[in-house]
Formats: sequence, C-alpha cells, structure tokens
Amino acid sequence: MGFKLKDWHFGGALLVLAVFSLTALILSLVGINNVAQPVGKRYGMVFDAGSSHTSLFVYRWPADKENNTGLVSQAFSCHVNGSGISSYANHPPKAGDSLRECLNEAMMVIPPGQHRETPAYLGATAGMRLLRMENESLSNEVLKAVGETIQKYPVSFRGAQIISGEDEGAYGWITINYLLDSFTKYSAQDQDWIHPSSANILGALDLGGASTQISFVPAGHIADPAEAAQFRLYGFNYTIYTHSYLCYGQNEALQQVIGIIVNSSSAEEVSHPCYPTGYKELVRTVDLFSSPCTEKLGWPPSSRNVTLVGAGNATLCREAVKKIFSFSNCSHNDSCSFNGIYQPKVNGKFLAFSAYYYTFNFLNLTEGYPLATAEAAIETFCARTWNELKSSYSDEEERRLKNYCASANYILTLLLDGYGFDKDTWGNIAFRMKAADSEIGWSLGYMLNLTNMIPSENPRQLRGHEEGVWVASIFFIALSLAVCLILAVLHFLR
Ligand SMILES: *[C@@H]1O[C@H](CO)[C@@H](O)[C@H](O)[C@H]1NC(C)=O
Ligand SMILES: *[C@@H]1O[C@H](CO)[C@@H](O)[C@H](O)[C@H]1NC(C)=O
Ligand SMILES: *[C@@H]1O[C@H](CO)[C@@H](O)[C@H](O)[C@H]1NC(C)=O
Ligand SMILES: *[C@@H]1O[C@H](CO)[C@@H](O)[C@H](O)[C@H]1NC(C)=O
Repeated sequence: MGFKLKDWHFGGALLVLAVFSLTALILSLVGINNVAQPVGKRYGMVFDAGSSHTSLFVYRWPADKENNTGLVSQAFSCHVNGSGISSYANHPPKAGDSLRECLNEAMMVIPPGQHRETPAYLGATAGMRLLRMENESLSNEVLKAVGETIQKYPVSFRGAQIISGEDEGAYGWITINYLLDSFTKYSAQDQDWIHPSSANILGALDLGGASTQISFVPAGHIADPAEAAQFRLYGFNYTIYTHSYLCYGQNEALQQVIGIIVNSSSAEEVSHPCYPTGYKELVRTVDLFSSPCTEKLGWPPSSRNVTLVGAGNATLCREAVKKIFSFSNCSHNDSCSFNGIYQPKVNGKFLAFSAYYYTFNFLNLTEGYPLATAEAAIETFCARTWNELKSSYSDEEERRLKNYCASANYILTLLLDGYGFDKDTWGNIAFRMKAADSEIGWSLGYMLNLTNMIPSENPRQLRGHEEGVWVASIFFIALSLAVCLILAVLHFLR
C-alpha cells in the first residue's frame, strides 16, 4: 500500500496542467465576448447643401464593424439657418458663416478625443449645379468659402464639392437599402451572410428643391447605358437605372408653372389654379425668369409685374402643371418618362422621401391610401380658401401653406404621367422620412462610399477566418484538458 513520491509528482503535474488548460479555456471564452463587444464609436459628418437649405448630419458606428451593413446610424442632425449656400453667391463668406452654428453643436456631440479622426464632407446638389451653369467662378468661390469654414474646426475635412445628379440618385438608393439591410443579412439559420431576395431591394424617389431623382432595379435590361449605374456591394452585383431631372425639383418646377401661366397672358392679373382662392401674389418677371430653369421659357417682351390670383381648382392645377412636361418625342421605343428621357417600366417597391414626404405628410397621405383616396383628399384641400387655411394651420409658414395644393398636384403628375406609376403600382410607393431611425437622403450613401465602408465583397471571408481560429484553439484546449483529467484520474485510481 502507499504511493511513491514520484507518483505524487506525476499526478500533481497533470493537475497543474489541467488547471492551466482550464484557465486558458476561460480566458478564450472571455476573449470571444470581448471580440463581440463594440470597441468604441467612430463618427463622420456630412453637410447636405441643397438648393433651399443646408443640413448637417453626424453619423456614428461601432469602430470594429465599420464594414458590416446597417450599422451606421444618425447620431445628430442640424438644420442650418437661412437659405441654401447657392443663395450667398453675392457674398460667399456668408455661406461659410451660416454653417458655424451647426458645426459648434456637432463638436459637442462628438467626443473631443474623436474630433480629429472624424471625416467631414460637404456635398452640394442642384442649387449649386444651377449656379455653376450661371457663373462657374461664383460657384467655386462659394465652395471655397464653406471649405474654409469647416477647416477651422478640428475635424478631418475631406472636401466640399458639387455632386452630379446621377450620383445623388445612386447615393439615395444606397442609403435606403443600406439602412434597411437589403444588401446582405446574417442568417442565423444558414450561419452565413445571405442575399435577401432581390424583391427586397427598394427603389428611391427623391424630390429636392431644384432637382428630382428616380433610381431602381428594372425588371429587364437598361436599353440606354447612359442611364445605368453598376455597383458591386457585399459580393453582389447591381445594375440600377438612375436619372436626375434638373429644374424638376419642387421649387423650380412650381416656378416653371408660374412662368407658363404668366407668359400665357398680357393681363396684369392672371388666375393661378393651384393657389388657394383669396390668395394673391405679385411676381416681377425679372425675378421669375432669372433662373436657368425658367429662362428657357422665353422672356416676355418687356419686364412687368403680374398679380397671380388663386383659383383653388385641383383639376385645372393638374392641367397647368402638366404643361411643364413634354410627353412627345420619345426616341426609345416609347419607353420614356418625359422630355424624351429613356426610362424602363417602374419595378418593385419604392421609398419616396424629402419633399415627397413633407408634402404628403402635411396632407396626412403617408399611410398608404389608394390613389383615388389621395386624389380626392388633394382635390378637397385645393378647394379650401386662403382664409380658411390660414386659420386652420396658423403654425405653418405662409410661403409653404400657399404651395401645398400645387406641390401635391406636381407630385401626382410627376409620379403618374412622368414616371408611369398607375393606380395598381401606386401602392408600391411608401412615403417616408426615416428608415432605421436615420433620415433618408443621399448623404449617408455619400459618406459610406467616400469612406469605403461598403466593401465589394461579402463579410463572410473575414468572419470565417476569425471564427475558425477560435474554434480550433478552443477545441485543442478542451482536448488537452480532457486528456489531463483522464490521465490524472487513471493514475490516482491505480
Ligand atoms: C461671374 O461673377 C463674377 C463676380 O461677380 C463676375 O466678375 C463675372 O463677370 C461673372 N461671370 C459671368 C460669366 O457672368
Ligand atoms: C391631418 O391630420 C391632423 C390630425 O388629425 C389634422 O389636424 C389636420 O387638419 C390634417 N391635415 C389635413 C391637411 O387634412
Ligand atoms: C463610390 O466610390 C467608388 C470609388 O471608391 C466609385 O468608383 C463609385 O462610382 C462610387 N459610387 C457612386 C455611387 O458614385
Ligand atoms: C474595411 O474594409 C477596408 C477595405 O475595403 C479595409 O481596409 C478595412 O481594414 C476594413 N475594416 C475593418 C474594421 O474590417
């Protein structure tokens, strides 16, 4: 009976080894948890410099997962006071000054330690495209002035530029599909990144002040390559149709309507069917025809003042609005939207945002009503008098209130007569301002693209490698632990 001293040594060594293995196992399990937890937040900021106003968006995402989909969210947004930057053409430094208040606020939202690594962009759209058409050196001065202001802040300024209409459309399309996780999803069932069915890819309808964009994946091929954009995102290829219509943003379109009404008569008072009854507005033709969008309508022989008198008639308003579109001269096999522009048949579901949303939200029409219901509501709204509107909506600015009937009829005309939606496909359009708690626009897609945060390949490869290493090391640790324990037990029993 009795153990020899060296047996105790051998058994003890096995126990020590077992304890080490156990510790290693615990440490690696803790390690896995650490990997899964966000290491920290990163920030990025984009100024959306539109034709009628500028907004600043600050985005935030977990630093260790910047290439995954759907993880970037809006941390802060700020509405810059005053008009769009293009309105400061006569005094560019003021365009820069206008941004300061929002920049100051953003500096308080982003932790000070992160300021210097926060990329900051300014993208300008149709208002600046129009200014560049009028006077390129002025538009460059405005861009220089806003860039100089942003550079005074301790952020990583990456440039102020005018983005093309096609890019604006594509970035809006990327934004909504990124936010809604339509590009790729981790499937717990398949334990892999999968491509959700292509029916989940949404089209984008964006209505700005000076331009409007439509972007979607058509059912067939795109006959005019000039209207196509191609991307490879998360391992899948996409070909989208995208077109931007300069001068067909809400404000410029309504100015065109007024231009045609004013030119149609030499009287001092002209009836405007889209304005409410009882509303009057004096227009000076010098101002009206000064934009490149109305210039083409032709100057009246002499400058004059005209009073527009509201008539509040939805049917006549639709007819007046239609006159700014040309539905003839399609050289693409009858597959045109308007003004001879090629467009394949609309396909799939769409999100309509920015001015589409603001107008329809005011009219309580964002809840997915059938087309006939929306048309009837718009007709009723248009018939309300100016006095009635002013007393019912005393909080609403008059410059907006006078335009809702016109805007609503413009939206109907653009979507139905222009893009070719009908009473059946109308239900495929959702009017939204936000997706996944972030405002919808082009700015998120713009930042994702410029920071290379949307990889062309699937995250699968990265993940597979990391997980493989963990699984292998845990397996070996657990195996040696088991061997040690079995040997120790056998030894002591002997
Ligand atoms: C553009 O604006 C600048 C500054 O006001 C002016 O000097 C120049 O003549 C303008 N150019 C054109 C083509 O109108
Ligand atoms: C929208 O709904 C609100 C709340 O029911 C109502 O007060 C408002 O008058 C409606 N607006 C229009 C344009 O019908
Ligand atoms: C995004 O950036 C890449 C270059 O990194 C460019 O080739 C591509 O066209 C951009 N996408 C859009 C929508 O402009
Ligand atoms: C994200 O992707 C880029 C290349 O597309 C790569 O350089 C970068 O390291 C990736 N970041 C992370 C956190 O995986």
